Amino acid sequence: MTNPSLPRRKVRHIEVCLSGEVEYTTRETGFGRLDLPYRALPETDLEHIDTGVTFLGRRLRAPLLIGAMTGGAELARTINRHLAEAAARVGVGMMLGSQRVMIERPASRTSFDVRDVAPDILLIGNLGVAQLLLGYGVAEMREAVTAVGADALALHTNPLQEALQEGGDGGFRGVIERLRVVVAEAGVPVMLKEVGHGISGDVARALRGVPLAAIDVAGAGGTSWAKVEDLVRYGEVRHHDLVEWGIPTVTALREVRAALPEMPLVASGGVRSGVDVAKAIALGASVAAVARPLLAPALESADAVAVVLERYVYELRVAMHGCGASDLAALARVRLGDR
Ligand SMILES: Cc1cc2nc3c(=O)[nH]c(=O)nc-3n(C[C@H](O)[C@H](O)[C@H](O)COP(=O)(O)O)c2cc1C
Repeated sequence: MTNPSLPRRKVRHIEVCLSGEVEYTTRETGFGRLDLPYRALPETDLEHIDTGVTFLGRRLRAPLLIGAMTGGAELARTINRHLAEAAARVGVGMMLGSQRVMIERPASRTSFDVRDVAPDILLIGNLGVAQLLLGYGVAEMREAVTAVGADALALHTNPLQEALQEGGDGGFRGVIERLRVVVAEAGVPVMLKEVGHGISGDVARALRGVPLAAIDVAGAGGTSWAKVEDLVRYGEVRHHDLVEWGIPTVTALREVRAALPEMPLVASGGVRSGVDVAKAIALGASVAAVARPLLAPALESADAVAVVLERYVYELRVAMHGCGASDLAALARVRLGDR
């Protein structure tokens, strides 16, 4: 089913994310209440701190992904290419925004084409779980990956966002069984992500046995997509309690880690510094992802994006040195304190 307003909506999302107050105000990620233990005698050399990690089969210089953002409109092409070029330069991975628009309008594929500027990065495609209940299946999932040369596919689940979106999809009944079928048959690595309202331990337990390659908990405390939709729809926030709803990123991370001890996890939702990344790794994440802080730089240039990413990497490196962790395996063993 084609949705005539889809590219227009994508542009509105970008405009609102750039200008509006779209971050949670009463709910926090939980990173601020945790402390990395500072070690005055660390037994590490700053210049030999190893931030490298292998995730979904690709080597990354640091455990960072550019979060899923956009595609479809001409503006999105500029954003995606700047993001990809920066990811290649810094040595991190990248998730594309939802490719539903590309499946519905093949001409918009060019807005997702980044392999010419970033041939070797870890690149993750993106489709919505809601579409899997409206006729999309394994064919569309494979197309999303192969058309752009991605290494894996992220499926985003967003019932709260869809509920607040004008004309959004409310039909999620049967979602877990549908995931069980398509993920097993996809033939490409599939990751499940939220969009910033979080994945709980209960949901993770319901996913046991689904052969997911990773889960991105995308918790609350950063960008609230319910808030974005209220602002796009009414020009103001009307549903104050709903837009502040979600599972804080730290809670989501802890709950999903406990429910699925072997599952590779992405920490995202309000990851705003390299110290947050360090805490996420200590809580059991393999990598962290950052979305909205990269949006304005991505409109400007690849250089501007790279500056922000390098700040994250630098802060992570210093944080690791300061708590005496020479690599990510050591960081994962660090026990966080309460502030
Ligand atoms: C402009 C923008 C567009 C987004 N579009 C998508 C999308 O198409 N698919 C998706 O899975 N997530 C999308 N997201 C959600 C992010 O991937 C991320 O889960 C969320 O913004 C929380 O991370 P943050 O607090 O670092 O922004 C988008 C985020 C932004 C800022």
